[in-house]
Amino acid sequence: MSGRPALRPAARADNLRALLPRRTLKSSWRPALVVAATAALAAGAAGCGNATEAGTADLVNGKKLFAGDGQCGACHTLQRAGTKGTQGPNLDEAFANARENGFGNSVIEGVVRDQISHPRRNSIMKPDLVTGNDARDVAAYVGEAAGNPGKDGGLLATVGVQDTSNASTAAKGGKLTIPAVAAGLAFQFGKATAPAGKLTIEMPNPASVQHDIALKPPGKGKGPTVGKGGTSSFTTTLKAGTYEYYCSVPGHEQGGMKGTLTVK
Ligand code: HEC
Repeated sequence: MSGRPALRPAARADNLRALLPRRTLKSSWRPALVVAATAALAAGAAGCGNATEAGTADLVNGKKLFAGDGQCGACHTLQRAGTKGTQGPNLDEAFANARENGFGNSVIEGVVRDQISHPRRNSIMKPDLVTGNDARDVAAYVGEAAGNPGKDGGLLATVGVQDTSNASTAAKGGKLTIPAVAAGLAFQFGKATAPAGKLTIEMPNPASVQHDIALKPPGKGKGPTVGKGGTSSFTTTLKAGTYEYYCSVPGHEQGGMKGTLTVK
């Protein structure tokens, strides 16, 4: 801390909000703002990381919510959580600049917390997707993870989106079951095989985000969009060849919710 007086944690968060009005953060952190904020916060924010609430936050819960039920990952890419959503800003990119300029986790955490309660009016990001301790945990996790490349370790490594792109399944008795994952934008299998002929494809959805399953090329079939506990399914007739299955909810295919079906 090189002899500068540290701000009290609460004062620090308040200062930040005043210094970095949310609407200026929409695309990325502007250098001018960062300079202003750095001058005021240098001692507190840069070095001694998790001074706000991260100390008591449950990062595992935060990551789980980010990638799953909190729905953040359906719209945002965050490398450490394994999410690839594209409808909202890539959070690694959004905060990379802030990190380069020496801001610590607690600063990013404060911005995320604020965004959760106060998204832009009419934003597709609804306010209070997570609240109370859950909001604290999500913000603390993003504060640690955003713009901080690498892999989560320990218990944190066991939650978040798993890479299912190489997991495969095969049709049985004319039916192919490809469930969605519970957390994130992916199917439980990134590869599937089926014999040529009539085939029913079904996708049970255990996630709180709505999903469906459809086939490309277009016109090969598409199931209804279903919420948690529902199953999207359709029956089609396929010739030998390679098809893509994907979720047609906007942003989901781009976010990684797709796979390859080989029909022989
Ligand atoms: C339906 C899509 C959607 C969901 C779900 C969503 N967001 Fe967003 N988010 C956006 C969009 C779009 C923006 C751009 C700014 C705005 O509209 O407010 C944004 C902006 C942000 C920002 C500011 C980034 C910047 O560059 O300033 C943060 C931080 C953020 N979201 C975090 C979250 C967290 C945490 C969650 C989960 C609790 C979440 N978002 C859920 C769409 C989403």
